Amino acid sequence: DKGNYAHYMQKEIFEQPVVVAQTLQSYIRPFEGEVALPDVDFDLGAVDRLTIVACGTSYYAGLVAKYWIEQFARVPVDIDVASEFRYRDPVLQPGGLALFVSQSGETADTLAALRHAKVQQQRIAVVVNVPTSSMAREADLLLPTHAGPEIGVASTKAFTCQLAVLAALAANFACKRGQIGAKDERSIVADLQQVPAALNAALGHDDDIAAMAHLIAPARDVLYLGRGPYYPMALEGALKLKEISYIHAEGYAAGEMKHGPIALIDEDVPVIVLAPSGPLFEKTVSNMQEVRARGGKIVLISDSEGIEEAGDGCIATIEMPKVHPLIAPIVYAVPVQLLAYHTAVLKGTDVDQPRNLAKSVTVE
Ligand code: M6R
Repeated sequence: DKGNYAHYMQKEIFEQPVVVAQTLQSYIRPFEGEVALPDVDFDLGAVDRLTIVACGTSYYAGLVAKYWIEQFARVPVDIDVASEFRYRDPVLQPGGLALFVSQSGETADTLAALRHAKVQQQRIAVVVNVPTSSMAREADLLLPTHAGPEIGVASTKAFTCQLAVLAALAANFACKRGQIGAKDERSIVADLQQVPAALNAALGHDDDIAAMAHLIAPARDVLYLGRGPYYPMALEGALKLKEISYIHAEGYAAGEMKHGPIALIDEDVPVIVLAPSGPLFEKTVSNMQEVRARGGKIVLISDSEGIEEAGDGCIATIEMPKVHPLIAPIVYAVPVQLLAYHTAVLKGTDVDQPRNLAKSVTVE
C-alpha cells in the first residue's frame, strides 16, 4: 500500500529515517556505547584482508564501505562487481573474508560469486534485506538490514540501511583490529544515532528539490562528481537518474573529470557536485571552477559552510546538515534519490517499474 504517496519509490525514500533507525537498533547498544555484530565462529579481529562483491546500488554501498573500512580498520579491501569477480579467477587466500551486499539476496551474479568464494575457502559475510533469501541461508555471518519490503525497482531505503550496517561493521572491525578504543567507539555510536534525524533534515528539502528537477529534466546528459566516499555516492546518483528518468548520467571521481569527461561540459550539461566541507573540499572547488569556465551549470550539494564558500555561481544548492564524516555519505543519498525521483515524475516515466528492469535480477 502506497498510503498517501504517489509511488512506492517516494514512500520508500520517506521511510528511511524509520527503517535506518530500526536497522541500527540491531547493531548498536546506546547505553554501553558499543557497536555489536551477531556472534560468529571466527575471529573478525584476525581478518587482515576483505573482499566485497555486489551489483548495482548494493555495489556502491560496498564501495562506500571500502573507504570506511580502510580508513577506520586499516584493513585492505578489494571490491568487484559480481559479474566480473566470478569470471576473473580472483586470488583469494584460504580463510579470508568475503562480504556480499544485496537487497534481495537472490541476485544471480552475486549468489554465484558467493558460491565461488565459498569453494575458495572464504568465510562468507552477507548484508541482505531478505532474511529468508539464498544468500542469507548460505552465510557464516548474516548482517540483516531491516528496510522492510522494497517494491520500487530503484533501490533507496535498502541502500541507506546497507550503509548503516556497513558503517557499524567498519566501526566494529576497527575495534577488533585495535585501531580505535572504547572512547572512539562510544562517539561513533553517538554519531550513528544521529543518522535518522539527519535523514529527516535532508528530506525536509523535498520541495526545493522538486523545483530543481525542472532544471534537470530537459538535460540529455548529467554529470555527478564527488571525492572519497562521495565518489560512490556520485555513481549512485547517476545510476538512480538514468534508471528512472532515462537521462544519460555519469558519476565521476571529481579529480578524474579533467581526464576525459570535461570534454562533455557545456551549458546544456548540469553537473551535480556532492561535497561536504572538509579537507577535500578545496580540491572539489577547483573542479567546480573548471566546470564553470566551460559554461557548465552546477548544482552543489553540501553543508552550510560549503555552500557559503562555493555556492555563488551555482544554479542551485541543496544544504545538508553538518554531521560527522562517517555518517555524512548516508545522508547525501537522500538528495540524489529525490532529484532522480522528481525528474522522473516530470518526465512522466513509470517510476516504480522502469522499462527493461527487474527488481531482482535472477539471471546472469
Ligand atoms: O538485490 P540486489 O541488491 O542484489 O540488487 C542489485 C542490483 O540489481 C540493484 O541494486 C539495482 O542496481 C537497482 N535497481 C538500483 O536501483
